[in-house]
Amino acid sequence: MLAHSDQGTGKPVVLLHGFPLTGAMWRFQVDGLAAEHRVIVPDLPGFGGSAVVDGPVTMATYANAVADLLNGLGVNGPIALAGFSMGGYVAFEILRQGRIDVGALALVDTKATADTPEARQGRHTMAARVREEGAGVMADAMLPKLFSAAALESMPSVTAEVHQMMSAQPAESVAQALEAMAARPDSTPELAAVSASTMVIAGELDEIATLDEARAMAEAIPGADLEEVAGAGHLAPMEAPGEVNEALVAWLSSSS
Ligand code: MLT
Repeated sequence: MLAHSDQGTGKPVVLLHGFPLTGAMWRFQVDGLAAEHRVIVPDLPGFGGSAVVDGPVTMATYANAVADLLNGLGVNGPIALAGFSMGGYVAFEILRQGRIDVGALALVDTKATADTPEARQGRHTMAARVREEGAGVMADAMLPKLFSAAALESMPSVTAEVHQMMSAQPAESVAQALEAMAARPDSTPELAAVSASTMVIAGELDEIATLDEARAMAEAIPGADLEEVAGAGHLAPMEAPGEVNEALVAWLSSSS
């Protein structure tokens, strides 16, 4: 079973972390939501407290592990599922698989499109470097892309925490996730069929999953709401937790 935290009681809310992070990236949201909900936060396979798996890894590996976890916890009814960035790619795979009843969906700083051939090549080059040099090289490359320039200056303890989280992940897991993201399909054609009550949350200054991509997703998913987080970069749940929590609370109350 995946390592996870499970706090609070009420409607189950499952939060899927991004790359190369752990469930700890959601700590502000657990604080904000667990008073009224059961908040389940897994560490995806190979990250945090979850064991490194034998490769190759795909989005299906992650989606199946989350479904197995929820089955193991006896969570069968409709869940509210939030995916941040790579966690959003996993959420799309969960929808495709249909093993979990997703009643509400939050897509946080993520995108539906697949990698371009150039991005895919970059992931494979980086995977080879990470296997050779360790996860620190990925942490150094990622940190400036995760936060706005202002937050990189003004939030040294949060940015140091995130850098430490990224460098502590097993190199093999980081490399596997790069390969899994490179191989992920384009989820755009499936957006029109999403029936879950959906909220798209996007940092205004996100360079990894841009505001334009978020707007396009929100337009393509029937009835989706869009919350733009002013001034925030990619890791909005940690850079602007107040705004992100407010959007998640609104999403959860409108979908219950
Ligand atoms: C993430 O934040 O999960 C990743 O940066 C997403 C990506 O690289 O596509």
